Amino acid sequence: MTDNQNIIPLDMERIPQHIAIIMDGNGRWATERGKERSYGHQAGVESVRRITSECTRLGVKYLTLYTFSTENWNRPADEVAALMGLVLTALEDELFMKNDVRFQVIGDIDRLPEEVQKKLQETIDHTADNKAMTMVIALSYSSRWEITKAVKEISTLVAEGKAKADDINEDFISKHLVTSFMPDPDLLIRTGGELRISNYLLWQIAYSELYFCDTYWPDFAEADLHKAIASYQSRQRRFGKTEEQVEQEKN
Ligand code: IPE
Ligand code: IPE
Ligand code: MG
Repeated sequence: MTDNQNIIPLDMERIPQHIAIIMDGNGRWATERGKERSYGHQAGVESVRRITSECTRLGVKYLTLYTFSTENWNRPADEVAALMGLVLTALEDELFMKNDVRFQVIGDIDRLPEEVQKKLQETIDHTADNKAMTMVIALSYSSRWEITKAVKEISTLVAEGKAKADDINEDFISKHLVTSFMPDPDLLIRTGGELRISNYLLWQIAYSELYFCDTYWPDFAEADLHKAIASYQSRQRRFGKTEEQVEQEKN
């Protein structure tokens, strides 16, 4: 089955359930226009709206957006402040209610300004019953922070006799990550031309399909998303098996 609203025909039966995006290139997009970097971040919010709506239309179930990394705290204070301000204004209910999207956040939230923390919680509460898709922003997030936190929690459980070392398996570890409420990403997209992961979802992307494009995030539009999904759909996910085995399992 294909969807003729798509510029590139997509197989609607094989839409990735979970798409994760490293939204990169806002600063360069603005600099090339002779503007402040924060102008690029503002333009990036428009892309978030566009891509969120399009993902719900396509039937994606989870969209995880890398919004601000642990390492991004090291940026100049005025850029950090501008980004925090943008998070506040971007979290308007309309986007979530119109698209029936549940909002969630992952990251070291305690480091965020109090009013941002409050706004995040309000948005989580207001959208809790929405069903079409879960949109997650990774804010003050890094994978090593997350894994360190999980290791601490698990070792405390063992030290207190609430778990045994033998209980620790991959599932157990996944359940102690901040992403425990969602499946691993099927497709990871990075915009902005860099070929790296920048401390994002290291455990969870073990078997994700990776897609890199040069387009800066503020320019990333529906057609670019379709291209990424078409690329995903053209691949065979083998999870270590042979091509033949995978073909046989389909029948
Ligand atoms: C991504 O864009 C957004 C954040 C990291 C907050 P950048 O701000 O990293 O843009 P470039 O990579 O400098 O162009
Ligand atoms: C990764 O982008 C983080 C986000 C998109 C939020 P960066 O621009 O911070 O990554 P590096 O520094 O180029 O690796
Ligand atoms: Mg960048």
